Amino acid sequence: IAIAEEQMQSKPTISDSSKMESITDILHQLFHTAICAAFPDITDPPVVIAVAASNPKFGDYQCNSAMPIANIYKQSGKKVTPRNLAQKILDNLPSHPMVEKCEIAGPGFINIFLNRDYAVKKLQAIFQNGVQPPTVERKKIIIDFSSPNIAKEMHVGHLRSTIIGETIARLLEFLNFEVHRINHIGDWGTQFGMLIAHLQDRFPDHLEKMPPISDLQSFYKEAKERFDEDEEFKKRAYDSVVKLQSFEPKHIKAWKLICDVSRKEFQKIYDRLDITLKERGESFYQTRTEKIVKELEEAGFLENDDGRKIMWGDESTTVPFTIVKSDGGFTYDSSDMAAIKHRLQEEKADWVIYVVDSGQATHFQILFACAKKAGILDPKKHRVDFVGFGVVLGEDKKKFKTRSGDSIRLVDLLDKGLEKALDKLKEKGRDKVLTPDELKRAQESVAYGCIKYADLSHNRNHEYIFSFDKMLEDKGNTAVYLLYAFTRIRSIARTANFTPEKIKELSKKENISLEHEKEWKLGKVLLRFPDEILKTLNDLYPHHICEYVYEIATTFTEFYDSCYCVEKDSSGDIVKAEATAMIMEKCFHILGLKPVEKM
Ligand code: ARG
Repeated sequence: IAIAEEQMQSKPTISDSSKMESITDILHQLFHTAICAAFPDITDPPVVIAVAASNPKFGDYQCNSAMPIANIYKQSGKKVTPRNLAQKILDNLPSHPMVEKCEIAGPGFINIFLNRDYAVKKLQAIFQNGVQPPTVERKKIIIDFSSPNIAKEMHVGHLRSTIIGETIARLLEFLNFEVHRINHIGDWGTQFGMLIAHLQDRFPDHLEKMPPISDLQSFYKEAKERFDEDEEFKKRAYDSVVKLQSFEPKHIKAWKLICDVSRKEFQKIYDRLDITLKERGESFYQTRTEKIVKELEEAGFLENDDGRKIMWGDESTTVPFTIVKSDGGFTYDSSDMAAIKHRLQEEKADWVIYVVDSGQATHFQILFACAKKAGILDPKKHRVDFVGFGVVLGEDKKKFKTRSGDSIRLVDLLDKGLEKALDKLKEKGRDKVLTPDELKRAQESVAYGCIKYADLSHNRNHEYIFSFDKMLEDKGNTAVYLLYAFTRIRSIARTANFTPEKIKELSKKENISLEHEKEWKLGKVLLRFPDEILKTLNDLYPHHICEYVYEIATTFTEFYDSCYCVEKDSSGDIVKAEATAMIMEKCFHILGLKPVEKM
């Protein structure tokens, strides 16, 4: 009992009335205390807390620990019944303002009923302090996402990384972590040799005058063709790499110029999608790569393999990292070794997240294993995550391509989205109701919102089919449905002439009824906000938030259809509508959706 009490004291369970708190965390702590006190002979007893099924008679949450505990006793030869164990748990359960009562049901389930006054207080807190994040220990986090390659196209894989990475970054920032968003662009390596050599031939005056290369991809293609066919050119390309890597000023200037062209193209996409990133490409690590290669060599981690220098991770990895190529050059592997060292040791990040397509899962598995082996990554101190994602498919379920078989340019894709979004709005006759300005805002909100949401709402491990028709549907779990639902909820208060200040005032009086079944259902969904945020923080799957915000919208509709009535004094309902809107708005912000006032 003493141990359990000590554990209770180390964690604040006293209700903090100023913000919403994680219900499952509180229940977990309460039941952990009860179970440890009831069964001191079991080390690390199972504490199983779940949201109850929708039938109100099963309560709001459940503790399902009695059954597994009975099993533990059975294995050591003791006969017990789970129902008796459940009673023992309840006998030891500390009281808490959040818990109204508990009941034992069936073979030994404990049904937990939440206190509705507590729920009302938590909803009121939203108006006093805004939608606040649950409290977590502050950490320094580096998130590596987007990361396209210079002179190559930024493809839909990079788009997924950009969208998922931005959302995870927003989630972490909302939780008040120190977040650094890093764009690890591919801006170094042998391809620059041929690009620079080709630039020198095509535009001899490029150092004085900006060459007109807007289409770097065809420039890249030309250079590559010459490289493959022309021996003399190939030799000059190799020379150029050597000069670039030794930082020869003219080569550096030409390199910068090429990077700038790509950079401008990337930035157009970021601006349109409202993405923030700090560029720190592979070139940034050049001297650090030289250093770490030497260190790894001296520490005896490198093995000679047919002229290459390789490094093995641990037993879990079946391929090694190539640290130095047989021509002496560095690789993607070696620059990632330098980068992880920089992030964990120089920048002193506590947590590094890589958002990269699942095709690179092995690369990151080896990276983490090698970093551990080299003493750079300390699993006791650091957390590293590979946040992978599946490929984007076209409606024909094949790799996403244009009809002519070319890969799709992202700018064209966004333009197409704008076009389709406008069609949709016109189809609904919105162009007749909205001003041109409002229509434009709605169009952008829908277009970019639907592209982001379609990506985020799928489990990121799965591939998903890119279809404007699907993502622009106004029913089901889509951005269009949610944006409309949100606008409608917000308009309830507006139509009733309730200003935000007035609602805030109203919310202080205890007139937020949660008595009706549908009111209580809505209240409970809203109260789950901290839990949904923490769940996503834990596994970094943004689709949890999509499912949650969709559940809010549908639960609100149920409530509205059965409870809301314009005639009666509806101020309590307006307060609930506004609380719903505020939580949805926070979710939208994390998902990068920009709701508009009218659509
Ligand atoms: N530029 C790489 C690509 O396009 C992605 C880089 C991801 N980040 C990293 N640290 N390796 O595949």
